[in-house]
Amino acid sequence: MTAAVGIDIGGTKIAAGVVDESGAILARARRETPTDDAGKLRDQLNEIFAELTDQHPVTAVGVGVAGWVGVDRATVMFAAHLPLRDIALRDQLADDFGLPVVIENDANVAAWAEHRYGAGVGRFAARSMVMLTVGTGLGGGIVLHGRLLRGAHGVAAELGHVRVVPDGRPCPCGRRGCLEQYASGRALIVAARDRAQEDPASARRLLELAGGDPRLITGLMITVAAADGDIAACGAFADVGHWLGVALADLTQVLDPNVFVIGGGVSDAGELLMAPVRDSYQAALGQRGNYPLAPVLPAGAGNDAGVIGAADLARQAG
Ligand code: BGC
Ligand code: NA
Ligand code: ZN
Repeated sequence: MTAAVGIDIGGTKIAAGVVDESGAILARARRETPTDDAGKLRDQLNEIFAELTDQHPVTAVGVGVAGWVGVDRATVMFAAHLPLRDIALRDQLADDFGLPVVIENDANVAAWAEHRYGAGVGRFAARSMVMLTVGTGLGGGIVLHGRLLRGAHGVAAELGHVRVVPDGRPCPCGRRGCLEQYASGRALIVAARDRAQEDPASARRLLELAGGDPRLITGLMITVAAADGDIAACGAFADVGHWLGVALADLTQVLDPNVFVIGGGVSDAGELLMAPVRDSYQAALGQRGNYPLAPVLPAGAGNDAGVIGAADLARQAG
């Protein structure tokens, strides 16, 4: 059995693993993402590679990057949350590792993993799937009729930067009102802090976890507090779920997929997120009752989808 390394470079952390042909992860590594310097990021990737391949022989390396990857899968053109601008990452890493390397957008690789091994398997096999990864940013991946949609330049399915609010919140991509500013891990924190500030009584548990200071609220605290029934924390999930559901309704009208899959770190919260997403999706299709809804499933591979998908793409290319 040949194994490959899969690396998922997100806006907050790098997750990586040695993955076999069945999609099983044999070894894991994890680091904070250096967000200030491309050289540091490259060093970090080399450390991870050395650590993982010490015990496990591999034939290729796949890297999911939270940014715009060229259609040649060689260059990172831009990344809103990473220090990568027009950088020939594939060739740099292939030199470093001495192995074939494939790079691809992080949400695209997650969608690929779900299509191959996860929520897209079985009933929805080889059909059409739209995946949203709710992490630091909001990623999108589209599998149409069994193929990853990459677009003319490689940047299809940048669903986090679809504008949902005219003249809305500024986005690090340079626009205003992008979906990511209302539906992502960062947006969840903004929503919870705003709610805790406006109505501290509704955020008792949340503020207790944050030592009384709304500015210290983290994503994990919001999940813990929401599970304990904290009104502000549940409200923050409802806010993010609302915007995700609206997006699913619009995507249904464009693509009419067989299934939607929700992944990324925030989806670890399970039904706290999924329930408001489904409610909002149903409510947002004004033609409800007539317009067919797609099932909305959590990622089968959870937050490992990126690592598994990147490794699988690398194995196929190698
Ligand atoms: C980036 C995407 C990425 C997503 C999730 C967005 O801000 O533009 O390329 O897939 O974050 O990491
Ligand atoms: Na994408
Ligand atoms: Zn944007």
